[in-house]
Amino acid sequence: MNSNIQAMSRSRELIDLEDKYGAHNYHSMPVVLERGQGIFVWDVDGKKYFDFLSAYSAVNQGHCHPRLIHALTEQAKKITLTSRAFHNSELGVYEKYITQYFGYDKVLPMNTGVEAVETAFKICRKWAYEVKGIAENEAIVVVVDGNFHGRTMTAISASNDPSSYKGFGPYVPGILRIPYNDSQALETLLSSNHRIAGFVVEPIQGEAGVYVPNDGYLKACAEICKKYKVLFIADEVQTGIARTGKMLACDHENVRPDIIILGKALSGGVLPVSAVLCDDAVMMTIKPGEHGSTFGGNPLACAVAMEALQVIKDEHLAENAEKLGAYFREELVKFNSPMIQIVRGKGLLNAIVINDTEDSKTAWNICLEFAKNGLLAKPTHGNIIRLAPPLVINKSQIDEALDIIKKSINQFVK
Ligand SMILES: Cc1ncc(COP(=O)(O)O)c(C=O)c1O
Repeated sequence: MNSNIQAMSRSRELIDLEDKYGAHNYHSMPVVLERGQGIFVWDVDGKKYFDFLSAYSAVNQGHCHPRLIHALTEQAKKITLTSRAFHNSELGVYEKYITQYFGYDKVLPMNTGVEAVETAFKICRKWAYEVKGIAENEAIVVVVDGNFHGRTMTAISASNDPSSYKGFGPYVPGILRIPYNDSQALETLLSSNHRIAGFVVEPIQGEAGVYVPNDGYLKACAEICKKYKVLFIADEVQTGIARTGKMLACDHENVRPDIIILGKALSGGVLPVSAVLCDDAVMMTIKPGEHGSTFGGNPLACAVAMEALQVIKDEHLAENAEKLGAYFREELVKFNSPMIQIVRGKGLLNAIVINDTEDSKTAWNICLEFAKNGLLAKPTHGNIIRLAPPLVINKSQIDEALDIIKKSINQFVK
């Protein structure tokens, strides 16, 4: 058998295994990855691709960053998990590091992004009862249309996307939704409802299709929250840690949220690490035994997260994302393809909206063509393709990737 056919059948075999033994809760592209380095990944056939998804912005520092793998392996040789029944040698050091890094009094460490979201909801409700004085079980958290905060019951109860919530009711109460990018809607609600504890918002809606709100939206919302003594909570799980060209997407408007939710790139994609940051007046409402996680704050996660954050600074990845992101969008706009309706984004979190009906397969087929030509991306919500490479990408690599993107899209021009 020639080696190509052998490799092809290996790929098929592995996809079949997932199909037979795994739950069918994802619709993955038919590519089986086995290795990654920097901005590139290789499949089991040895084919090399530009990674333009970055594991949904978890791999901002690039795949298998040598410093992160070093931190991981060195710590793994010592101790990986203690639980919080005991203290560990890394946790306090990490907590000091991350709180000083982002300028907050305290951090609560968790693992996945949605756990941090869940944690933020709990802290917000606790603060509502203990500090704001809302009657027990009456607190409301406000969210926006089109949000994506993850897959737990609370997160899906906040969602207006049927593929997230449908069939999983009954839902968590105490959540109200208003339109995104509409600070007046927030003011109207907060001025008329005194049970509101917090407002949770993504500074840019990543999963929904990289929707960037108008300049000034976040600032206006933060001010309205302050006026009505409501916590402004930024879900920066996808936008945070340099992705949009600033350390936090809220930094674009000089907004300091009352609570920040981080995940994904907090470990550079090495292992699940998430965090909630806020000041004492909010965080200290949570008492011993009231919240936690067996793995949250484990020494392996702490060692990796410190290194992951330090790499962002040492390699100037926010600056790189800002500069190359602007260039990337400019080039896509100049390309002026009849297949592209809109190019939008900030830093290296970008999307193109394909000029076809929302339920068409065109974006999916374009992504298959990208893959054929050596670039990986995936549609989000029908005809929108998110383009978000690791932030370690350089200009000549962006140019090479742009060539693949243009060549692939040109195949679809009628
Ligand atoms: C804004 C936002 N919040 C929360 C999550 C959930 O993170 P995780 O999948 O790690 O639970 C995501 C994941 O895409 C996200 O984009």
